Amino acid sequence: MPRTGGSRKKTKDAKQAAIFQPPASKGAKAYVKNLAEYEAIYKKSLENLEKFWGERAKQLLTWSKPWTKTLDYDFDEPRIEWFAGGKLNASVNCLDRHIVGARRNKVALIWQGDPEDDTRMWTYQMLYDRVCRCANALKNVGVRKGDRVVLYLPMIPEMVVAMLACTRIGAVHVQVFAGFSAASVQSRIQDCEAKVVITADGLFRAGRVIPLKANMDEALKDCPTVRRVIVVNRANMSTTMKERRDIWWRDLMADRSLNANFPAVQMDAEDLLFILYTSGSTGKPKGVMHSTGGYLTYAAYTMQYVFNHRDDDVHWCTADVGWITGHTYGVYGPLLLGGTTMMFEGGPRWPDPDRFWQIVEKYRVNTFYTAPTAIRTLIREGDEWLDRYDLSSLRVLGSVGEPIGPETWHWYHDKVGGGAIPLVDTWWQTETGGIMISPLPYATPLKPGSATRPLPGIDADLLREDGTQAGVGEEAHLVIRKPWPGMIRGIFRDAEKFKENYFSRFPGCYLSGDGAKRDEDGYFWLLGRLDDVINVSGHRFSTAEMEAAFNAHPAVAESSVVGMPHQLKGEAIYAFVRLNVDEKATEQLRADLRKWVRREIGPIATPEYIQFADSLPKTRSGKIIRRILRKIVSGQVDELGDLTALSDHGVIDRLIEECERLTGMSAIGRA
Ligand code: PRX
Repeated sequence: MPRTGGSRKKTKDAKQAAIFQPPASKGAKAYVKNLAEYEAIYKKSLENLEKFWGERAKQLLTWSKPWTKTLDYDFDEPRIEWFAGGKLNASVNCLDRHIVGARRNKVALIWQGDPEDDTRMWTYQMLYDRVCRCANALKNVGVRKGDRVVLYLPMIPEMVVAMLACTRIGAVHVQVFAGFSAASVQSRIQDCEAKVVITADGLFRAGRVIPLKANMDEALKDCPTVRRVIVVNRANMSTTMKERRDIWWRDLMADRSLNANFPAVQMDAEDLLFILYTSGSTGKPKGVMHSTGGYLTYAAYTMQYVFNHRDDDVHWCTADVGWITGHTYGVYGPLLLGGTTMMFEGGPRWPDPDRFWQIVEKYRVNTFYTAPTAIRTLIREGDEWLDRYDLSSLRVLGSVGEPIGPETWHWYHDKVGGGAIPLVDTWWQTETGGIMISPLPYATPLKPGSATRPLPGIDADLLREDGTQAGVGEEAHLVIRKPWPGMIRGIFRDAEKFKENYFSRFPGCYLSGDGAKRDEDGYFWLLGRLDDVINVSGHRFSTAEMEAAFNAHPAVAESSVVGMPHQLKGEAIYAFVRLNVDEKATEQLRADLRKWVRREIGPIATPEYIQFADSLPKTRSGKIIRRILRKIVSGQVDELGDLTALSDHGVIDRLIEECERLTGMSAIGRA
């Protein structure tokens, strides 16, 4: 792979793994040029948070009315208000301000379909035109400021148009990933009381067409708030359209009386921009609320700093827009900065496992952001799929969603990046709105497997169980001590859970739910969730939600779901199921249960293993001891810990034996 420039040194630290020095910044092109500069900015940012964020919000966004108070907050209530009194609109910031200048004819969106010859490119002017027409169309079907619009769409450009059209009206978009089942869509529509939903007839995946509207119809059987269903024709599938409720997107948009302008509604900084559901430690998904002024400031800031965004960059975030990563770094971040964003409908292995690299070469992608799970899959396919491509356009590589182990890190860095460009391992969450802990490309020396240090403005810390600060190398709770503009503003209609989940455990701090440790250089090493959340291929699942799905099956008496270490997925879903007394543990039932959970939650929640058990380890008060089950599935059977609370000791041996039989591996093999 040809590579020029880049005087990168690889130095071996005596105690630690290799440290990779950042490339020398090319003059003014780096936002933060070196480590000393990062440290100075970081220190200053925390000394005066309001000044730091006030400057960012002013520089990065266009406000129709300036704010009167930069920050007002109280983590105990909790209440968080950024830029109070300020007014702005998201789509104006993503579009209008660019089309009045030199970027009018710049490509805003490059779309690559699953079929290779299916591509579209829209300039800022073209995107503006479509967004305005769509906003008018949505208004015509009754969408108003504050209404919730659920988007259940594949990765097609209409997704971006619909999002921005909602924001133009002041409506709240609620994306539901197209891989979720009808039942999952239904519960989200019910929770947010959506007035309108936008979906597609079907979607392309690896050359196949998969129906989507049929799921939506199933979901809508019990969603009385939904008045209109807008359907994008993506796959030319025969589709049932319900009279007076359903309308094709193309018919809606073909209305020639639709105005190609739409005066954007000016929103208060704290007005709700979107809701995105994510899994927590309870059975019910949480509607994470993000604000207009704060979220947009944070999306633009992190996009600029972490990817060192340049005006002529082609940025490609491979995450689906149905997840927070796609929201912030597929759509809002790049468009706020007037950049060019790539959107890809397909996956990395179809038609061949070179698809990512072929696209990078085809569009000369400069900044590339993906998940370790995708990289792990591609490593398995062999280097020859990558070696044939010229990837020299790449300038920054990014990783997100789960820990990237050193082996994956090295392949990504050395093979994809030619060992010559920075790899930013970015830690953040749906709730944080944007990247929190990450290297800066020209400033931070890299240690494979570490997300390195918090961004300027982010006061990250590690606390022991008793709330005192953890020392070097100690595993502890990752918390954020001060508010930042992109942070969650609430859980939709559940103020109590908002407080309890994030602000109760350590008063005065935001609790991430993740464990981490810090080394002697202040680098953070993420260790995974400390609550009952599993991270499968970078996607979050609540074990409680999955248990509820299992328990709803007529054959199941009780269940317990835990994460099992998995080579490709990071973690895989492992379910222990106790059947009702008159049920037989057959392979057919196992297959039925697998199908059942896929239908209840979605194909992404397919359990890797379902183990039938005659009994589950419980405390004397009847609570399932999940810690023991986690140890069993990860092969740590010699470290089961204190078992005195256990009511039936024989249960453990039977569980271990069956686990070994099922996985075909001894504990040592799984560990
Ligand atoms: O456990 C952390 C893990 O993903 C969780 C957040 O998931 P979600 O809200 O779906 O957002 C994913 C995309 C931001 C975190 O609590 N996680 C995310 N990034 C990393 C990570 N774990 C380790 N290293 C990361 N870089």
